[in-house]
Amino acid sequence: MKTDTVEILAISGSPRTKGNSISLLEEFLKGAEEKAVKGELIVINQLDFKPCQACGACSRNGICVLKDDMQEVHQKASKAKGIVVAAPIHFGSMSSQTKMMIDRFQAFWAAKHVLEKPRIREEEGKIGFFICVEGSPVKKFCHNAYDIVKVYYDILNVETRGMLCYSEVRSAPPGIRANREAVEEVYRAGVDFAEEIIKRKEGQAK
Ligand SMILES: Cc1cc2nc3c(=O)[nH]c(=O)nc-3n(C[C@H](O)[C@H](O)[C@H](O)COP(=O)(O)O)c2cc1C
Repeated sequence: MKTDTVEILAISGSPRTKGNSISLLEEFLKGAEEKAVKGELIVINQLDFKPCQACGACSRNGICVLKDDMQEVHQKASKAKGIVVAAPIHFGSMSSQTKMMIDRFQAFWAAKHVLEKPRIREEEGKIGFFICVEGSPVKKFCHNAYDIVKVYYDILNVETRGMLCYSEVRSAPPGIRANREAVEEVYRAGVDFAEEIIKRKEGQAK
């Protein structure tokens, strides 16, 4: 049964609004839609927010004191059943937009590790996925980015379900769209991700 509730938060870390990361996220969400699981796509570069100031205030209550667009991202991440991040490689790792967003989840780290009151509980059974694109053939770069995403999901108590990395992707159109196999693989990953969300929801309802 299709619901209007957003179950998947899809986060693009590319500054390019018609680039490869967004194309793949859209494909991932189309796959999820096949299973009637709804997603919402947010573009970090379009948000108005500061980088983490390392003020430590979140260690008091698990809430970030910076009142900007990241507050809404915190809410959406807390509500979603699954999170998928897509990022291009910039200088050997994830784009700075992606890293800046991740650092702003320090409040989730404080809630979990300082206050021992995680904002997302492990029992909620949330899942996460990562999609990475790069211009070069150096797979290590995707793994550098994936290592950071795994830390991010771990702090959020989100179970990492995998990564798809696409190398030698041209930034000029059609970019990744020229690679039918990649597009289909990401669509399929979206279907599988949605199936896992449904399975976990059914398990929790029992
Ligand atoms: C500032 C910048 C730095 C980049 N650095 C790398 C890099 O270190 N290694 C790499 O393989 N590609 C690098 N690229 C290429 C992008 O990863 C590639 O074009 C990717 O397909 C862009 O994805 P997007 O369309 O989602 O932005 C860089 C691109 C930019 C703009």
